[in-house]
Amino acid sequence: MTFEYAPALESRSIVSIKAKYGHFINGSFVAGKKHFPTINPATEEILSHIALGGASDVDKAVMAAQKAYTKTWSKLSGKERGKYLYRIARILQERAREFAVLETLDNGKPIRETRDIDIPLVAAHFFYHAGWADKLDYAGLGHSPKAYGVAGQIIPWNFPLLMLAWKVAPALATGNTVVLKPAETTSLTALLFAEVCQQAELPDGVVNIVTGDGSTGAAIVNHPGVHKIAFTGSTDVGKKIARAIASTDKKATLELGGKGANIVFDDAPIDETVEGIVNGIFFNQGHVCCAGSRLIVQESVAEEVIEKLKVRMAKIRVGDPLDKNTDLGAINSKEQLVKIKELSAIGDAEGAERWSPQCNLSNKGFWFAPTIFTGVTQANRIAQEEIFGPVLSVLTFRTPQEAIDKANNTPFGLSAGIWSEKGSRIFWASQHLKAGVIWANTFNKFDPASPFGGYKESGWGREGGKHGLAAYLKTGKETGAK
Ligand code: NAI
Ligand code: MG
Repeated sequence: MTFEYAPALESRSIVSIKAKYGHFINGSFVAGKKHFPTINPATEEILSHIALGGASDVDKAVMAAQKAYTKTWSKLSGKERGKYLYRIARILQERAREFAVLETLDNGKPIRETRDIDIPLVAAHFFYHAGWADKLDYAGLGHSPKAYGVAGQIIPWNFPLLMLAWKVAPALATGNTVVLKPAETTSLTALLFAEVCQQAELPDGVVNIVTGDGSTGAAIVNHPGVHKIAFTGSTDVGKKIARAIASTDKKATLELGGKGANIVFDDAPIDETVEGIVNGIFFNQGHVCCAGSRLIVQESVAEEVIEKLKVRMAKIRVGDPLDKNTDLGAINSKEQLVKIKELSAIGDAEGAERWSPQCNLSNKGFWFAPTIFTGVTQANRIAQEEIFGPVLSVLTFRTPQEAIDKANNTPFGLSAGIWSEKGSRIFWASQHLKAGVIWANTFNKFDPASPFGGYKESGWGREGGKHGLAAYLKTGKETGAK
């Protein structure tokens, strides 16, 4: 006898979405000129219209941020700045359900994840950085470290509010002011965050939000009043930003793509490992820069791991992101779905074997069943390129050294996972892996105190922890950042 889950829909009545939004500049919402729709990717329903910021909007936002920096924010003590951050953190906790529902509607990720992961981590980032604001002089970041002034921050669509928190919290804690641009498909929670800034009575101009597309982002990067850039997104755009600032004295941290290796040794506890593999690649629809998108499994246990993985994958519930039982939500956009389909078709053409469980996918919205490719070789594009979807490429190895060689054989170096019962093997492997973040017997765990960032084409610098603060401070020790 099998049990079916009855739908358990989260009510969306807690959110009120305006028909149209402007930019948030100098503490107020100002009307935009052109607008573009933002949709719910699970239904294709148009949720609202977002302003497409141009160079003049960016200019106004940078002016407001500069004025706020000189007139108010740089004059406050760290303790006073910390109070604002604590206030923001508490309001975010109070309004957590509203943010979770709105994020799910605009992004397509399951409510279980926005409610239990994204929004709690957002609040944790503000609390953590609030605690740093009055301790910067004593943290080994140099004598009286100073803010840069205006930080330009450009974020992606996979963790919209969480990436905002990763950017805004350390910038404000270190005394910088901010001009932030959300991604085009997911601006709504950033605009709700603007209301939180008003509610917290943050001084006008300390946080400015200009919505728009790549041209808006480029205008922020190129603005002479911006002294520090923080970017998370694709490696292609990261390279464009690096070129744009090459002849300037602008500092930058770049969090780019990844092709994380999840390495399974033959002594790993198989059932726990299967859970970790699922969490590594199917969490957030695989729209995760540090996803464990390459499974590198020891040949002697490969068959057993893949069999158990298939059984587990058949239990993943794909569907309405507002349903509390849903594990895998909608793909964020039509463009992203096309990209996932194209790369998967390349996997077929390269001779890898595709498998997905039976799923009833809705005709409306953007959906992709959880998928694995076995028989993948290192030269295959699906072993080298970021698919950024619920697609796992499986490779095998015989010796530990072969596992490391395969894991390091990509242009990226963001994350890796090691599954083994043997501590010495975990230490040995983690010393040889070229990845900024390495998890052992777990995957996709985040904490504001832990620095995050990559090697090679995965980017420059670290975010989070003390390392992340240094990237926003002039006499701070830069950690690999420009
Ligand atoms: P993207 O890199 O184009 O977008 C990220 C942000 O950068 C957005 O806010 C966008 O408006 C902005 N942007 C675009 N062009 C810019 C420019 N020239 N100057 C300044 N800002 C600019 O990413 P996209 O197109 O949404 O996704 C494409 C691929 O990128 C995905 O398939 C995935 O592989 C990867 N990606 C990686 C992410 C990560 O967390 N590392 C996040 C999002 C995408
Ligand atoms: Mg949307």
